[in-house]
Amino acid sequence: MTDPKTPVGWQTHDGIAVITINNPPVNATSQAVRAGLKSAVEEANADPAIRAIVIACAGRTFVAGGDIREFGRPPEPPILFQTCDVIEASGKPVVAAIHGTALGGGFEIALASHGRIAMPDTRFGLPEVKLGLVPGAGGSQRLPRLGGLPLALDLATSGRMIEAREALDRGIIDRLASGDLLGEAIAFARKMAGQPPRRTCEIPVPAFDRPEIDKQVEAIERKARGQQSPGEAARLVLAAPDIDVPEGVAREREAFMRLMETDQCKALRHIFFAEREVAKVPGLEGMEATRVSNIGIAGAGTMGSAIAVAAADAGFAVTVVEQDAAAASQGREKIEAIYARNLKSGRIDQSTMDKRLATIQTGHDFAAFAKCDLVIEAVFDEEDIKRALLERLSRVVGEDAIIATNTSYLDPDGLAVAVSHPERFVGMHFFAPANIMRLMEVVRTATTAPQVLATALAVARKMRKLPVVTGVCEGFIGNRIYTKYRQQCEFIVEEGALPHEVDAAMEGLGLPMGPFRVFDLSGLDIAWAMRKRQAATRNPADRYYHVADRLCEMGRFGQKTGAGYYLYKDGVREIDPAVTEMIKAASREKGIARRTFEAREIRERVIAAMVNEGFKTLADGVALRESDIDLVFVNGYGWPAWLGGPMFQGRLMGLDKVVALVREMEQRDGSAFAVAGGLRAAAETC
Ligand code: COA
Repeated sequence: MTDPKTPVGWQTHDGIAVITINNPPVNATSQAVRAGLKSAVEEANADPAIRAIVIACAGRTFVAGGDIREFGRPPEPPILFQTCDVIEASGKPVVAAIHGTALGGGFEIALASHGRIAMPDTRFGLPEVKLGLVPGAGGSQRLPRLGGLPLALDLATSGRMIEAREALDRGIIDRLASGDLLGEAIAFARKMAGQPPRRTCEIPVPAFDRPEIDKQVEAIERKARGQQSPGEAARLVLAAPDIDVPEGVAREREAFMRLMETDQCKALRHIFFAEREVAKVPGLEGMEATRVSNIGIAGAGTMGSAIAVAAADAGFAVTVVEQDAAAASQGREKIEAIYARNLKSGRIDQSTMDKRLATIQTGHDFAAFAKCDLVIEAVFDEEDIKRALLERLSRVVGEDAIIATNTSYLDPDGLAVAVSHPERFVGMHFFAPANIMRLMEVVRTATTAPQVLATALAVARKMRKLPVVTGVCEGFIGNRIYTKYRQQCEFIVEEGALPHEVDAAMEGLGLPMGPFRVFDLSGLDIAWAMRKRQAATRNPADRYYHVADRLCEMGRFGQKTGAGYYLYKDGVREIDPAVTEMIKAASREKGIARRTFEAREIRERVIAAMVNEGFKTLADGVALRESDIDLVFVNGYGWPAWLGGPMFQGRLMGLDKVVALVREMEQRDGSAFAVAGGLRAAAETC
């Protein structure tokens, strides 16, 4: 009864049909799985020798959801909800034997079954919302019936997973297996045989507290910040108490198909695959990372102390060294302050805080680095300081230790000269706050050995970061492209839009904060200092924006000084007419006739500038792929995942249009804005 060509087969175990899904890697519900599962349940029902049915999966996990690769193509029958209907309608009891992750369609298959038994480390979730979708096979209707409305609302709108223990406590599953999942599932099915199946669709949604639910929905909408799917999922779950499952599933289906075509859903699918692609680094195939258990951090400033927390949270032993006792004790205070905040917010409990703090050693004796497998330098971003430190580190660290730099703007190839084993030198560019931000740019220098790169990536992943490999260039991937974003926003201000108009345009796209608000928040003085340093080497033919310099000359460094692009009075942001006048005067002086800008034009121009620079990073080999660039912006620069990142937005806009806009930039703004060859070629092949 098991056809080796199909991913679903079934065998009889003394009157119990065991249906096995075997569709590696994650048993996604491809058409063959949906069809095979449906037929197997029908066949088992038709076979008089069968008394009950078990659905199990081979390999690492129970069904982890719909096959995302099939999304966007016309669905081929049977649709998963039809398979689930057949399972639920089965006259013979069906038990789902669950291990690994029962996600999306997998969870829905389990919910449509009549009994559920799971390994204790199983996790359950409805992650469709994270792909811009809603459950499509009854999840929003059956889960409230088993687990109650508040939990269903939470899971369907957040995509978060719950552990088997919680699923058991909430009545979503019936049993935890103690070891032999299949044997115990068969025994469970045998016990249910002969009894009328307990159909989820026949269970009423348990009573709930309406005002509490209203509050929960409000919070969901606030948190969604422009993303459509959480609100859609909430509406479906909220309808469950008043409609029957077939009606609810029909509504799900309508929403699912509609959302599938949205740009948000396409963007989120793009990000899903981007996150899997980014781990594939040419030259590192099959490369084993070196074992790292003790991480050293040189420098306990804001960055160093946050890196220490990230490392301790990941289970590393951490050694932090500062230049003297006073600096070391200040560093310790910073680390303790981060933990105190985490404790206060409920992110950790007291015993976790104590344990983690105990794994962090702080001091001012450089010799303490001798025991570290990896030392990350996080001192002031200045060439001479970093070089001196790296030379000193080289003398102290062990034979095989790796040294990493956290520089943002210095040239790691230049810094590599200061270390005694440049092959064991790599960049680990954390984003502030380093214990929170998910992005890490891992910088491959000209001399970094492949195994060292593989180790840095493994350490980053253990810290639950998303590492993106970058080559060496000014600003690496993120800050290099961000510079073009910044410039274009500034030029638009010079040409006629006011800062708040540019902010509104970018916030309208979906960014949480417009550029000028960000500049004010992070302070205008750092970029000013950098511009002054670069003044001598700047190409005089390139367009230069003077407004930021003028603001700094006026002592307006942003929010911290109460004034920048905006005026801040008691924490309230206001448009400052003096700045508006200054901007207009700056345009006049340059002979620029100011004009009005539509929000759409602002957005398109800004994205075009980013995409063009993105193609240049690809041509230089700094970025490996377009999707890596998108991940940088989604994980390090506050871009919501549902925008897909700047490169994705460029493709949505159409690369022809991007080329046309960049041509205008080249003419208007100078050779630094020349159209990237790769962009032109990509536009032609589109
Ligand atoms: N459809 C198609 N392919 C999928 C998939 C899905 N639903 N889920 C995972 N895969 C693929 C991945 O692309 C990857 O392929 P690759 O090896 O060719 O790159 C492979 O399966 C392994 O996935 P990965 O995420 O690297 O493994 P993991 O063990 O870290 O995580 C999961 C496993 C199931 C937790 C994770 O893949 C996941 O969350 N998948 C999405 C689940 C989902 O959203 N389902 C609902 C769809 S509506």
